[in-house]
Amino acid sequence: MDKLHYRSRYSLTKLMIWFVIFVLCFYAFKLSACYFSSENSRRILRSGTNWDSLVTLSAKPRDPNNGFSVLVTGAAGFVGSHVSLALKKRGDGVVGIDNFNKYYDPSLKRARTDMLERAGIFVVEADINDSELLERLLSVVQFSHVMHLAAQAGVRYAMKNPASYVHSNLAGLINILEACKSANPQPAVVWASSSSVYGLNSKVPFSEKDRTDQPASLYAATKKAGEEIAHSYNHIYGLSITGLRFFTVYGPWGRPDMAYFSFTKDILKRKKITIFKGPNNGYVARDFTYIDDIVSGCLAALDTAEKSTGSGGKKLGPAQLRVFNLGNTSPVPVTELVSILEKLLKMKARKDVLPMPSNGDVMFTHANISSAQRELGYKPTTELKVGLMKFVKWYLDYYVHSKKNIAW
Ligand SMILES: NC(=O)c1ccc[n+]([C@@H]2O[C@H](COP(=O)([O-])OP(=O)(O)OC[C@H]3O[C@@H](n4cnc5c(N)ncnc54)[C@H](O)[C@@H]3O)[C@@H](O)[C@H]2O)c1
Repeated sequence: MDKLHYRSRYSLTKLMIWFVIFVLCFYAFKLSACYFSSENSRRILRSGTNWDSLVTLSAKPRDPNNGFSVLVTGAAGFVGSHVSLALKKRGDGVVGIDNFNKYYDPSLKRARTDMLERAGIFVVEADINDSELLERLLSVVQFSHVMHLAAQAGVRYAMKNPASYVHSNLAGLINILEACKSANPQPAVVWASSSSVYGLNSKVPFSEKDRTDQPASLYAATKKAGEEIAHSYNHIYGLSITGLRFFTVYGPWGRPDMAYFSFTKDILKRKKITIFKGPNNGYVARDFTYIDDIVSGCLAALDTAEKSTGSGGKKLGPAQLRVFNLGNTSPVPVTELVSILEKLLKMKARKDVLPMPSNGDVMFTHANISSAQRELGYKPTTELKVGLMKFVKWYLDYYVHSKKNIAW
C-alpha cells in the first residue's frame, strides 16, 4: 500500500515538473518572439550593446570626413520621413525618433517607417519627453545636427486636446533643447515653427519682420512660444538654432487631417466636403507648398547652420539664431484646390459652403520668402497642379489599389 502511494506521489511530482517546464518554455518562446520583432526591438532594446550599435550604424555618414549625423525627431511623420530619406540619400547618417501617437492613423506612420528602415535608417520608438533616453542617444552618438520636427500638429484639434500641444510643442521642445545644450559637442538645431505664428496679421505677404503676437489658435501660440524658447536657449547656452515657418505642406505620404487629403478621400467616397467662406464672401486661401520644396529648404538650413558655441551646458560665445519662411509665394483659394482635385480624380465634389467658424483657422496665408532665397538659396519650383497630381497618384496607389482603409 505504502509502495503504491509512494509511486503515485512520484508520478504526480514528475507530471508537475514537466508542466512547469512546459509553461517556462512557452513564456520563453513568447518573450523571444517579442524581442526579435523589429517594432518591439525599437522599444525594448533601449540600452545595451545591440541598441547602441544599431544607433551608431544608422548615424554614420557614408563619408565619415564629410557628412552629417542627424537626429530627426518626428521621423515617422509626413515631413520627418521625407527629410530623413533625403538626408540618407545624399550620404548623411540619420537616426529617427517618434512616439507613433494616434492623432492620425498610426499604420501610415508605420508604413513610412518601413520605408526608412529599408533605406537603413533606425527609428527609435520613444517620446521626446523621455530625457533619460535622449541623454543616452546623445551620448552614444555625437550628432552634428538635430532636425526637430516632432510636434502636435493641427489647428482645430487644439480645442479638443490642448494638453497634447503642451506635451509635445512646449515640454517636448524644451526637453530636446535641454538634451542638446548638455551634449558635448552641442549639435546645431533646426526645427519646425509654422506660418500660423502670423495669426491675425493682415499685412501681405507675411515677412519674418511682421508681428507675430496675435496667434489665432493654441497650436500657433505654442509655435510662437517655441520661437521665444529657442531665443533663450541660444542666448544662455550658445545653441545654434534655426526655426522654419512652413506654409501648408502637401504631397505624397501626407497628413490625413489636412484639407487636400480629406477632400480627396471624401470626393472618392461621394461624401460632402465643407468649404468655408469668410466675412466678405472671400474664400479661405493657402500658400500650398510641395513637400520636395520644403525638404530642399530643410536641407539648406542644415547645410548653412553654424556650429553651436557652447559645451556641456556652458556658453562660450554668441551663436547663430535664425527664422525663415518656407512657402510657395502664391496663395490659392480652397475652391481652386477642389477644382484641381476634381479634374485629377475625374469626379465632381459635393460641396457645403459654410461661414468660417472661429476655431483657430485664418483666412489666408502668403509667404514672403526673400530671406530664405538670399540666405538658403531656397527656390520652390512645384506648381500646385503638378504637386497635387503626384499626391493623387500616391493616394490611389496606397489606399485605393491596395484597398487600405483610412482609420481615423
Ligand atoms: N505639414 C504642414 O503643413 C506643417 C505646417 C507648418 C508647420 N508644420 C510643422 O512641421 C512639423 C512636421 O509636421 P508634419 O506635417 O510632418 O506632422 P506629423 O504629425 O505627420 O509629424 C509629426 C510626428 O511627430 C510625432 N510626435 C508628436 N509628438 C511627439 C512626441 N511627444 N514624441 C515623439 N514623437 C512625437 C508624431 O507621431 C508624428 O509622427 C511639425 O512640427 C509641424 O507642427 C507642419
